[in-house]
Amino acid sequence: MTKLERASFGSKLGVILATAGSAVGLGNIWRFPYMTGQNGGAVFIIIYVFCILLLGIPCMISEFIIGRHGQANTARAFRIMSGDTIWSLIGYMGVLTGFLISGYYAVVSGWCLEYVWASLSGKLLGNPDYIQSYFVTFSQDPIKPVFWTFIILLGTYIIIENGVRNGIEKASKLMMPILFILLLIIVVASCMLPNAEKGIEFLFKPDISKLNSDVFLAALGQSFYSLSIAMGCICTYASYYSKQTNLTASAVNISIIDFLVALLAGLIIFPAAFSVGVNPDSGPSLIFITLPNVFHQAFGNIASLGYIISVLFYTLLSMAALTSLMSLHEVSTAFLEEELGTTRKRAAMFVTIGSILVGTVCSLSLGPWQDFKLFDMTIFDLFDFVTGQLFLPIVGFLTCIFIGWYVPHKIVRDEFTNMGTLRNEHLFHSYIFLVKYVCPICILFIFLHQFGLL
Ligand code: PFF
Repeated sequence: MTKLERASFGSKLGVILATAGSAVGLGNIWRFPYMTGQNGGAVFIIIYVFCILLLGIPCMISEFIIGRHGQANTARAFRIMSGDTIWSLIGYMGVLTGFLISGYYAVVSGWCLEYVWASLSGKLLGNPDYIQSYFVTFSQDPIKPVFWTFIILLGTYIIIENGVRNGIEKASKLMMPILFILLLIIVVASCMLPNAEKGIEFLFKPDISKLNSDVFLAALGQSFYSLSIAMGCICTYASYYSKQTNLTASAVNISIIDFLVALLAGLIIFPAAFSVGVNPDSGPSLIFITLPNVFHQAFGNIASLGYIISVLFYTLLSMAALTSLMSLHEVSTAFLEEELGTTRKRAAMFVTIGSILVGTVCSLSLGPWQDFKLFDMTIFDLFDFVTGQLFLPIVGFLTCIFIGWYVPHKIVRDEFTNMGTLRNEHLFHSYIFLVKYVCPICILFIFLHQFGLL
């Protein structure tokens, strides 16, 4: 298998911010708070941290190793590492998962753009019933969500088409610091509200009675989703790392950033929700239905603070979504560019058109096509199920087995230690132990449990 001449990130900071940009997304700001709300607050967060340490980081390092070793798109990187054997299929599955997710991820990212627009034009300032019907009417509309899906994919296309350094790295270096600043501003505003301490307590004071096996499963699923594991993104980005990049340190730094952002999102949502007496366990609609009300009620009577906070929040949500969407797009773009031998521009164009088609179908399946069901699910839910509950655990499990049991440990160790120059040999044994036993067993457990088989 021939190795390719290829682009790379230009700096250490670029590596961290671009990969953290992939990790930090709707999963942190939209999914993490409602998962925390539904799974008992602080207890969930403690288990989540363990999942990141014991499963997320080792899986991320494994993908780094495959990507950087192959210096190629995910499918080819697996082919290189496996010597063109059947194991290469994992790489293809990763690319397919990344592609399928990018379509429906773009739909929800498009909703965020609509909410920036709606909050800017003052449309989110109404009573709870109005906000509820606003979201339902909008998400079921045949045109508007498709329009926003198109816009966010167009933005993604423009960045991706500019290449790894000039596109992905530059955009991440610009957007990630802005995202952090916006988060901090809103956290401060939220924590200063009356009764905010109840929300802070919910986040930090564990109630052990809430602990059950579902909390473990939710935390594990969330850690994989949040770190962008098993979808080709991490592997593709690692193929742009230099041979000097310390993979373990990068995985730890990226996981810390990812966790901090999720926690800060919690520190926005829970204090604000508790301060107006709203229960923060409303599920996926938390961000689009509950939150506009919460912002309006909590900040509404302080000049136009409710308006400003709402605009800032949805802007930050859209930026987080965009940096993740870039990484999902890049998985398929790199694949087409290298496997079809076409130009980056053309590859990016194909992927954008494909994602628009998938996104349109997903979006329409929530509105005009909502009665069309396969396996009792709308197309949107089917995509979510196939990628999140089937492909993600399968690719994650097989990647661990591949690295832990199949690839010669010498190759893995050389990548882990940067050919022995890092002096982190002592960590290697723990890493291999986790990847060989702990990660596959835990992933298998979730997989079987979710189908009621365990
Ligand atoms: N990690 C992203 C988030 O938390 O929103 C979602 C995601 C992006 C998942 C890219 C998978 C992926 F490949």
